[in-house]
Amino acid sequence: MRISVVCGTNREGALSRVLATEVAESYRQLGHEIDSLDMAELPPDVLNANAYKEKTPAIQELIDRFLACDGAVFVIPEYNGSYPGILKLFVDMLPFPEGFDSRPCAFIGLAAGQFKSLRAVEHFQQVAGYRNAYIFPRRLFIGDSYSAFIDGKLADDELSERLHDQAAKFTAFISALSGEKS
Ligand SMILES: Cc1cc2nc3c(=O)[nH]c(=O)nc-3n(C[C@H](O)[C@H](O)[C@H](O)COP(=O)(O)O)c2cc1C
Repeated sequence: MRISVVCGTNREGALSRVLATEVAESYRQLGHEIDSLDMAELPPDVLNANAYKEKTPAIQELIDRFLACDGAVFVIPEYNGSYPGILKLFVDMLPFPEGFDSRPCAFIGLAAGQFKSLRAVEHFQQVAGYRNAYIFPRRLFIGDSYSAFIDGKLADDELSERLHDQAAKFTAFISALSGEKS
């Protein structure tokens, strides 16, 4: 199946991007096709006042890529106790209702602090839920982000294990929803 792994920030040097790369790899190992969709790919004209109405080809391409996925995994950093504004802007570019309606979505939170992006993920889940996404209940939360990676990989083997476990169970969840075999 085709999985979109969404890096929920455009910040240069974001650790969410490092994590999203590891997440994508775990889905590849399970034999799935990955589209790594990074908020840094949003072009500056997404800020134009008429972008809600008229999409430039660059914005439309990102939207089409997202719409083509069987399921989406959102890697969500905690910014000021919530998820980044750029991620909300991307959501606001997606068409209604097909952007989220019946789309399986999984969530991973990453934060420097002790709250491990729980609030950010739950804020984002409220939006995805409002838009009728199929919410995968097994989430993953990672704190102390600045010490969490060694050589671009999660340092904690147990967290890596949970990440792989989430990937296996999320794809089974998508298959169950679609009536396909995984
Ligand atoms: C604008 C901004 C706001 C942030 N706010 C918080 C916060 O409220 N709580 C927290 O634990 N970390 C906060 N951080 C740190 C991020 O959680 C940390 O950088 C983490 O690695 C995930 O973000 P990243 O993918 O940009 O690296 C903030 C970082 C930025 C850039």
